[in-house]
Amino acid sequence: MPVMTTPIMSESDLRAAVEREMPGVRADLERLVRIPGIAFDGFDHSHVERSAEAVAELLRGCGLDVEIVRSGGQPAVIGKKAAPAGAPTVLLYAHHDVQPVGDRALWESDPFEPVERDGRLYARGAADDKAGIMAHVAALRAFGDALPVGVVLFIEGEEEFGSDSLERLLDEHRDEIASDVIVIADSGNWDIGVPALTTSLRGIVNCFVEIRTLDHAVHSGMFGGAVPDALTALVRLLATLHDDAGDVAVDGLVAKEGASVDYPEDRIRVEAGLAEGVGFIGTGRITDRIWTKPAVAVLGIDAPATGEAPNALVPTAKAKLSVRLAPGDDPKRAYAAVRDHLAKHAPWGAQVTVTLEHDGDPCVIDASGPMFDAARSAFRAAWDGTEPVDVGIGGSIPFIATFQEMFPQAAILVTGVEDPHARAHGPNESLHLGEFARVCLAEALLLANVARTGTNRR
Ligand code: BES
Repeated sequence: MPVMTTPIMSESDLRAAVEREMPGVRADLERLVRIPGIAFDGFDHSHVERSAEAVAELLRGCGLDVEIVRSGGQPAVIGKKAAPAGAPTVLLYAHHDVQPVGDRALWESDPFEPVERDGRLYARGAADDKAGIMAHVAALRAFGDALPVGVVLFIEGEEEFGSDSLERLLDEHRDEIASDVIVIADSGNWDIGVPALTTSLRGIVNCFVEIRTLDHAVHSGMFGGAVPDALTALVRLLATLHDDAGDVAVDGLVAKEGASVDYPEDRIRVEAGLAEGVGFIGTGRITDRIWTKPAVAVLGIDAPATGEAPNALVPTAKAKLSVRLAPGDDPKRAYAAVRDHLAKHAPWGAQVTVTLEHDGDPCVIDASGPMFDAARSAFRAAWDGTEPVDVGIGGSIPFIATFQEMFPQAAILVTGVEDPHARAHGPNESLHLGEFARVCLAEALLLANVARTGTNRR
């Protein structure tokens, strides 16, 4: 009996269909960003539940079989539609949780009330990563009943908090999520107008270091000069994490060179918002420093607030560190190296306690083969002929390494909506709406190209 095949929509039909869907996609994106789903400890996780429900409803609307799943962590959403006979199955990944907003006073508008200014949509999660979810939804809506591939949507609920239960979750749902190709819409493009395929990501170790020098606070005049305060000890310890050039000074971390493109200093200066007169840290090409070498940053310190600090020596102080790991490094080994460094460099015999918050593996993707060609040709078409570039990113998506291990045969296409002005994780995060429309179109074209390429081929 002849196999009935779904005809694959043409590029021009897909262009028209995506354009038709964009107003609805934008409205649903705004609905999603109004839900403050933050998976961090100490936040109200009922919003993450609501956010999972909202995503589930969107996926049901696309005709998928949907379930909300969890394995001791925050809820993820899985949506499935079987492949037409002989067609490949594509896993579409994004996450629905967002980072905390930090100091609200630094936001020009309410972080959870989307506002458009100069072609950008401002809100926490507008870019990272609710637009990633909506790019998948846009592509599915554009195809309607003519989806030429099978899809599994996996929308995680705790990516921004280190994906602690992810491995268990993927294990438990292994058969459901098995696929030939995976599209991770959680990265970004090289510039506005220049698409990119992400081919390497750094890993991460987030940890806390706590210092104790005294049993209790004492008068700073009575004991200062002979007795160390914990905050000074902590600051001295933190200062040992870099050398004078600003390279990471922790022994035992992997560092590599060889990024495919460079990032001119005048460009990164503007895009990062480096203050007047401030120099760069580290040595070597900028792209090596941010993609293939380690980085250490101090994210926060628990210590008395300056407005309320009495004249007393501080007995304990705590810092949160984020260590970004080069591709090829191992989070467990790297954490041990950081712990050893902190213990060894504690000044004046100060007591040091280090605890892990979360970690994630780095990864490298061999971006060659027909599925990568399919992606590049979709990008080229969506950006009117502009050639996509291969980029690394300095951020982390722990899902990728876990998935690579489980499904070594699958081609992993890391795409996304972020651009150098998105300010993901910071105040005034935003999404470039013009680029977002291209990302949605690119994803629809990509699925069509994947269908033409066929099954089980990298
Ligand atoms: N979307 C980011 C990854 C990313 C970072 C893409 C920079 C493009 C540029 C992702 O959602 C993210 O922020 N991941 C966390 C993971 C961590 C908590 C394990 C990160 O990198 O901080």
